[in-house]
Amino acid sequence: MSMTLEQVAKALVADGKGILAADESTSTIKKRFDAIALTSTEEARRDYREMLFRSTEAMTDHISGVILFDETIRQSAKDGTPFVELLTRAGCIPGIKVDAGTKPLAYHPDEQITEGLDGLRERCQEYHKLGARFTKWRAVITIGKDIPSRACILTNTHALARYAAIAQEAGLVPIVEPELLMDGDHTIDRCLEVTERVLHSLYAELNMQDVVLEQTLLKPNMVISGTECPQQAGIEEVAEKTVKVLKRTVPAAVPGIVFLSGGQSDEIATAHLSAMNAGHDLPWPLTFSYGRALQAAAIKAWGGKSENVAAGQRAFTHRAKMNGLAAQGRYSADLEKAA
Ligand code: 13P
Repeated sequence: MSMTLEQVAKALVADGKGILAADESTSTIKKRFDAIALTSTEEARRDYREMLFRSTEAMTDHISGVILFDETIRQSAKDGTPFVELLTRAGCIPGIKVDAGTKPLAYHPDEQITEGLDGLRERCQEYHKLGARFTKWRAVITIGKDIPSRACILTNTHALARYAAIAQEAGLVPIVEPELLMDGDHTIDRCLEVTERVLHSLYAELNMQDVVLEQTLLKPNMVISGTECPQQAGIEEVAEKTVKVLKRTVPAAVPGIVFLSGGQSDEIATAHLSAMNAGHDLPWPLTFSYGRALQAAAIKAWGGKSENVAAGQRAFTHRAKMNGLAAQGRYSADLEKAA
């Protein structure tokens, strides 16, 4: 039975569920494997993703969809079952990262533009045939002295809108991800101001390109203090300011908002999400689309060793469960110790 794009978008933000971002590029997953002294071969990458995708409780109960990388969507588990089939059997919707990463933005030192529009229509059509039903494009925006520039915000949000229109035409729900990096010494209020500017620009550009908002999801950063800022905002302040900016900028027609974790620690990323859901009256579901905050503990417990697969799966399942509760505003830090 085929689902409409609206149904896919809604299913991805189903109550108590969120997205696993497992779309690390080959160079990014190599960095994660370097940390456990594991050589990044195609087989190692397959084994690692298979460990996650075969975590049945996590995948069935807490994960709605998985964002894959080009290599992964074409891979099969060790026994020959295609990953797409493995995910679909667990009730998870396969998704695909389609941007081609960032390049320096001409004339704008320290700023980046995401590439990948050339040939995107054909790639989206192929991914749909391979079983993908949603997709992701990430723009990266750095906060610093005099940046982001207007040029950086405009070019990146324009590219996001062009991508979203092409994805919808090909039958894929676009997740639009404008990520403000948390690196730097900026205050939470500066993050709030820049996030607001970026999201206003994004929704203006999506409107310009006739993107159907009901068939999209937003993947934003949370509004937080820069990692080097001497005053670190607490959980309630982050929750309150993030919700404030989203209410100012994101139309209620958007079916859901799925946050990136961006380098926040596992437990903080979970606590922030729960605080937003617990204390606020919201026009859209708020859930997770975490990469590192879902996977860090699992990679560590696994360590690249087949005898540790069960331990890796336990670690992953625990985080998926905690974040599932956070998506309902029902998480508390005590639950970490109980596990
Ligand atoms: P993190 O949660 O590790 O930031 O990754 C999410 C993601 O998909 C970034 O594009």
